[in-house]
Order: sequence, then structure tokens, then C-alpha cells
Amino acid sequence: MKILVTGGLGFIGSHVVVDLLQRDYEVCIIDNLSNSSLKVLDSIKTITGKSPHFEELDLRERDNVRAYFKRHQDINGVIHFAASKAVGESVENPLLYYENNVGTLVYIMQELSKLEQRHLIFSSSCTVYGQADELPITENAPVKPAESPYGNTKQIGEEIIKDVCKVQPDFCAIALRYFNPIGAHKSSLIGELPLGTPQNLVPYITQTAMGIREQLSVYGDDYPTRDGTAIRDYIHVVDLAAAHVVALERLIHKKSKANFETFNVGTGTGSTVLEVVQAFQKATGESLNYRIVDRRPGDVTAAYADTTKVNSELGWKAQYSLEDSLESAWNWEKAVRKE
Ligand code: WQD
Repeated sequence: MKILVTGGLGFIGSHVVVDLLQRDYEVCIIDNLSNSSLKVLDSIKTITGKSPHFEELDLRERDNVRAYFKRHQDINGVIHFAASKAVGESVENPLLYYENNVGTLVYIMQELSKLEQRHLIFSSSCTVYGQADELPITENAPVKPAESPYGNTKQIGEEIIKDVCKVQPDFCAIALRYFNPIGAHKSSLIGELPLGTPQNLVPYITQTAMGIREQLSVYGDDYPTRDGTAIRDYIHVVDLAAAHVVALERLIHKKSKANFETFNVGTGTGSTVLEVVQAFQKATGESLNYRIVDRRPGDVTAAYADTTKVNSELGWKAQYSLEDSLESAWNWEKAVRKE
């Protein structure tokens, strides 16, 4: 079975590629290296002892996408990660996000529609729910007006896929709505590449503990939560990777109940920012320098998954705890700094 992973050298993509290779899938990676490096390919080979096919390609080049699929008519499925994902950047540069996240999805789907096997796993996000009215969040929660162009591209992406699946019964797709992916592979050979100042909480925590950042700023302690700081559902990236393979196999083995499905992929447990800080200190023995500052615009108070559907229908459940994830993130940070 040949699986195309776009953005396969990225944070989540690389962990999915490792999982696929270890399950003896033939893997092809497309990546434009805008947010990753070829060192990740070497690490994948070291971890698995296998070499995925790799091609550096920018999916915004429609002709190149078309030519690629002509050379790979025997693809059994596509897991589509390639996208820009910085919320703040998307506000500053919306057209970059609509071109890179929406335009490339259209090109991929145009080519996939010509193949025998039309299976697509789409990287979506819990950000589509905004601040959900009810917690934990189920897949039936209403999709709210996006808080950022980034979030909007995920909503639009799902709508595009839904519309195509309506008119192409053989086109089968699953959108995985991630909560907050954190951590790294146990080998510490792959993880979230630290490019620039981290926007996300956990890489900022590990860089503060490493002394690269002076102090963690906790964005607000006046939320209506148990300790005043915002709540999220932090899921180990290795658990998240496994969810992609289970979802792909659901499509390949025709186990879906409809040709477009969505699943919330989280642990089902919410943690406040201060609980994450405490868990990090406990898991690593490091003490963290932090201070409370104002809220970050656009942040929601709380988001954590209702995992009933993903547990019962997809047959997947997160295995790692928050402390496991934070320890793996710290081990990755130390390994990256040694290079
Ligand atoms: C988590 C919590 C912050 C940094 C975003 C995207 C989502 C997905 C994951 C791509 C919040 C607080 C953070 C810091 C802090 N991205 N925080 N100090 O915003 O929940 O989700 O990243 O797929 O789509 O929306 O993640 O890690 O940025 O923030 O206090 O230096 O940590 O306020 O409460 P977020 P995050």
C-alpha cells in the first residue's frame, strides 16, 4: 500500500510517517521544507531503518502537483498535512494562508479525484469550534465563525471536502480535528522543530527551562476556570499519529459509515496552563520561571474533547499522560540543543 503524506517532514507528519513505515506501508513524502528540514528525513530513516520516497515540492505549483500524481497513479491514500499553521501570522498575511492552505487542498483533491483509490485524511483543528457552548466538545458542536484566517482555512477545507464527497461517492475522507499536539518521539530524533519564537505553550516552556527564553508569560489568570488560566486538551503527538493510521485504515478497508466523517482527536482531559507548568516541573524536576500577564487576544477559555466517537467508532484512545508528553518534549529540547 502506497501512502502519500504531504508535509511529511513536519512535526505531526514525521510522526505519522514513522508509524506508517513501522506498519510496512510504502510512504511517499512531499514537503517544501518551509517549516522543516531534510535532517528529519535522516531521523525517520534512523528510527525505522526504512527510506520513504521524498520529493521537495511546493503544492502551490499546480503543474508540479499534476505531474507528481501522474507519476504516482498507484497511491492508495493521502494524508494531507502541508499547510501554514501560525494563527498570528495568518492574521497578518491572510492571502498566504488562503493560497497555501486552501488552494493546495483544491489541487491535491483535483488530482486525487482522477485516481482509482480516493482516500483522504485531512488535518483539521478544534479551532473550528471557537469557544464551544458545551464542554467537553463533541463533533456535533456547531462550527463557529473562525477567530483567525488560519482557523477559517480549516473550516473552508472541511467544506470543500464535504462538497466533493457529496458528488463523488468513491471519494472517502476523514477530517481529524486535533486538540493541542505536544511532545516528541521517544527516540528524541523527531519533534517540533524550534524555528523562531515559539507561539505555542509547550515549546515555550521547554525553551524557558533550557534558558533560551528568559521567562514564560502565562496569558491571563482571570478566566472562569479552576485556577484562572485557560484550559486545553494536550495530546501526545505519537498518540495523534496513531489516530491518523487508524483513520486511514478505516477508509482503505471501507469501514466508514459515510464518505465524509469528522473525529475530535484529544485525550478528553482538559488542563489549565498552570497545571501544565506544574506537570512539567514534576515530570522533569526543572523549575520554571514564569509570570502572569494579560490574556492573548483570540484565546478561548476552554477547549477539550469529548472522545466518545473517536474511542467507539474509530477505535482509538490516547495512551500517554500529560506528564509523559511533557517529559518527551523536554527530552527532545535537550537533544536538539546538543546538535
Ligand atoms: C495553549 C494555551 C495560551 C503560549 C493553537 C492553534 C491550534 C493549534 C495549536 C495548529 C493558551 C497559553 C501559550 C505562551 C501561554 N495549532 N499560552 N503562554 O492557542 O490552544 O492552539 O495551537 O494546529 O489550531 O489555535 O495553543 O499552545 O498557543 O496555547 O500562556 O507563551 O497556552 O493562552 O491558553 P492554542 P497554544
